Amino acid sequence: MATNITWHPGLTRHERFAARKQRGLTIWLTGLSASGKSTVATALEQHLLHLGLAAYRLDGDNVRFGLCRDLGFSEADRNENIRRVAEVAKLFADSAAVAITSFISPYRQDRKVARELHASATQGGGDDDPIPFVEVYVDVPIEVAEQRDPKGLYKKARAGEIKEFTGISAPYEAPESPEITIKTHESSVEECVAQIVKYLQDKNLLTVSQ
Ligand SMILES: Nc1ncnc2c1ncn2[C@@H]1O[C@H](COP(=O)(O)OP(=O)(O)O)[C@@H](O)[C@H]1O
Ligand SMILES: [Mg+2]
Repeated sequence: MATNITWHPGLTRHERFAARKQRGLTIWLTGLSASGKSTVATALEQHLLHLGLAAYRLDGDNVRFGLCRDLGFSEADRNENIRRVAEVAKLFADSAAVAITSFISPYRQDRKVARELHASATQGGGDDDPIPFVEVYVDVPIEVAEQRDPKGLYKKARAGEIKEFTGISAPYEAPESPEITIKTHESSVEECVAQIVKYLQDKNLLTVSQ
């Protein structure tokens, strides 16, 4: 643990959001492997960019090539993986971008930690803008996910070649009150994106009140 460190105050988030004419927020996708998180996150990122907004996707597999390459899939490592990603998403959102995270994030407690991290992000100064946290449950029956199996992971998990595989040999704790639930076995990718964008528009999260 570092000691002798002091938070250096700077611009307020309010100032940053107003100057960028965009509110930063985090859209947190959670769901089984092959539920469609990365596919929907990518389409959502593209949609928001084409609206002229700053958006950036943090993806489960991708961060394991760098930021989290020292972590495996034990419960402790998954906790640390999500903690780091939540911190990074918060930084993107703090910079007035839409951070879109696509991680299985199977544990309710980890997602709660991510949410609370955003809720308590007040270092920018007393009465600062909060960072919205929008949890999206990418809901799909495991049979559908296993049937899709785009990376052949379920097959390997069933054969015992992958230990601690979510839904097979490790738990998935579904969200109890997510802001949005998308059902990728009933709606197309475009419909899922439209559902998320409509929520953001209805809540005025894509504009900044001056
Ligand atoms: N409505 C949908 N939304 C997202 N993915 C879908 C949908 N319908 C079918 N799919 C397919 O499901 C698979 C989901 O894979 P992926 O996005 O990598 O999932 P995850 O990131 O959750 O592991 C892809 O092959 C995708 O083409
Ligand atoms: Mg993925």
